This record gives sequence, C-alpha cells and structure tokens, in this order.
Amino acid sequence: MTTLMKGQLFETTELINQTSNTEFILLGFGNHQIFHVPLYLLFFFIYMGTMAGNLLIILLVALDQHLHTPMYVFLGNLSCLETCCSSNILPQMLSSFLTGSKVISLRACFVQHYLFGSLGAVECYLLSAMSYDRYLAICRPLHYVAMMNGRMCFRLIASSWITGFLASAVTQIIMSQSVFCNNKIDHFFCDTFPIIESFCGDTHAFKLYLYVLCSIFTFPPSILTLTSYIFIIVAIMRMPSTVGKQKAFSTCSSHLLVVTIFYGTLINIYVVPNTNKLNELRKVLSLFYTIFTPMFNPIIYTLRNKEVKDALRRLCHFLFRFREI
Ligand SMILES: *[C@@H]1O[C@H](CO)[C@@H](O)[C@H](O)[C@H]1NC(C)=O
Repeated sequence: MTTLMKGQLFETTELINQTSNTEFILLGFGNHQIFHVPLYLLFFFIYMGTMAGNLLIILLVALDQHLHTPMYVFLGNLSCLETCCSSNILPQMLSSFLTGSKVISLRACFVQHYLFGSLGAVECYLLSAMSYDRYLAICRPLHYVAMMNGRMCFRLIASSWITGFLASAVTQIIMSQSVFCNNKIDHFFCDTFPIIESFCGDTHAFKLYLYVLCSIFTFPPSILTLTSYIFIIVAIMRMPSTVGKQKAFSTCSSHLLVVTIFYGTLINIYVVPNTNKLNELRKVLSLFYTIFTPMFNPIIYTLRNKEVKDALRRLCHFLFRFREI
C-alpha cells in the first residue's frame, strides 16, 4: 500500500512550486491582527478551564475510595485523554497568537497530527468501552460485578490506548513520505484533510484509503456504543418503578450526553463537503471537537453526577480541615 501511494504521488509531482519541505504555515483564523489579543485571552481561559476541570477529575478518581469503580476509572482515563487533546493543540495556537508567527516545523506538524489522530481514535474506543460498562450495569446487573472486574476494565482501557495509537501510525508513515507542493495549511492545527490539500499530485487514492481506514477502525466501536445505548434505553423503559428508572438513567445520562456531543461534532465534520469555500465553517466546527468538548466533559460529569459531587465535597472538607490544623 505504502509503495503504491508513494509511486502515484511521485509520478505527478509538480516540481515547479515544490517547497523546501521543512516547515508549514498554519493560516489559522486569518490575518486580522486586531483579533489576536481577544482570541488569545479566550483560548487561554478555555485552556486553563479544561486543564483545571480534567485534572480535578483525575485527582478525585485517584484519591477518593468511593470512586474506585470501573465507571470512574474509565472517566479518569477519559479526562486524561482530554488533557492530552487540548495540550496537543492549544499551547501551539496560543503561542502563535502571541508571537504572530504562523510557522510550524514539519516535524512538529506531523507529531501534532499523529497525536490528534491517535487520541481521537482512543476516545472513540474509550467511549464505547464506557457504554459497554453501562450496558452491563443496567441490563445485566446480576453479572456486572463478575464481568466488569478490575482485569476486564484494565484490558478494555489498555486496548483502547494501544489500538488508537497503532491505527494512526500507518497513515502517519504514508504521510511523512509524501511530497508537498505547497506549505500553507488552511487550518489552525495540523489536521488530516488540510494537510492533504498540500500534497503534490492526485490525492484521491489517499483520501479513499483514509475513508476505508477510518471506517474499519471507528465503525465497530461506534456500532457497539449505539447498540449498548439502544439496549440501555429499552431496559430503562421497561423498568416498572419510576424511582428505578430515574436511578438507572442518572448513572448513564452524563455519559450519553458526552457520546452525543462527540459523535455529533464528528458527523458534522465529515458531512460538510470538502471544498475551499467551506474552510471557514470547517474551522469553526473543528473548534468544537478539539477545544470545546474537552472543556465540557468535566462540567457535564461534575454537575450531573451525584457521586462526583459528593467526592468533590469530601475533598473540599478534607482540604478545609487541613488548612485549619
Ligand atoms: C486509567 O486506567 C488504568 C487501567 O485500568 C488505571 O490504572 C488508571 O488509574 C486510570 N487512570 C485514571 C487517571 O483514572
């Protein structure tokens, strides 16, 4: 596959405007200097909020004995993932607002692209593992403790991380051997399709390969998530008591919200046609899944979840007493 793609790309190389290939220019949000300071401040506070919220969840899950259950170990890992996601994109973006420099080295761009692809895939797997966990808890309550034990939980989490990082590696290898005719990327970070736009020659084969790869790796977990939720909703609707319904729903509603946001933004990105006219729209939509989703997850989980709120209260009590001593 690799040699085929390379061959095709080389055949049609337009050597005329081939660039030196050591750096890219991220066009970002345009050249309006006047917006740089407000945008810098906006994204700075978003980044601080994202880090604070997610690190707080990681801390709670690590410290509070009541949260040492599979559901919260998954949540801790999700928060860990979200801190990585925003740290992959935001610091570079903030520094470009501050310095006005849009240049990013080829290597930094590829690292960012690889991490972005891998973390996105890991999120997809982790969300499906979490929905499977909720499925077992609600639809198979008698077998839950036996099936979702520490070992199973560890396996699901480890395989999510490993598969995510492997799935992205092949694409990255192909991409890093491609020839670029243009070093301008019309985006605010090194995302896949904007990078492909600067490849030399015909990119259809590579795009097709990407669609096939994405389908192979993201379809199974998406289907698993979807079916888990169908079973969960049917099971909840069949419950005889209203109290039972509410209790079951409250343990999975925040997760359902996060899943909906994740897939909602993802579908938006891939449904929007890939044309230059819609580049600005694509950038705004990308902001959602790269920057806003990681910020919202901790808010959703802490505000909507009683156990997390209780853990937070215990932590506050503990810190408060600690200060008085
Ligand atoms: C992530 O999952 C691993 C494996 O189960 C667990 O040991 C670790 O504590 C989790 N991380 C967080 C931050 O909760």
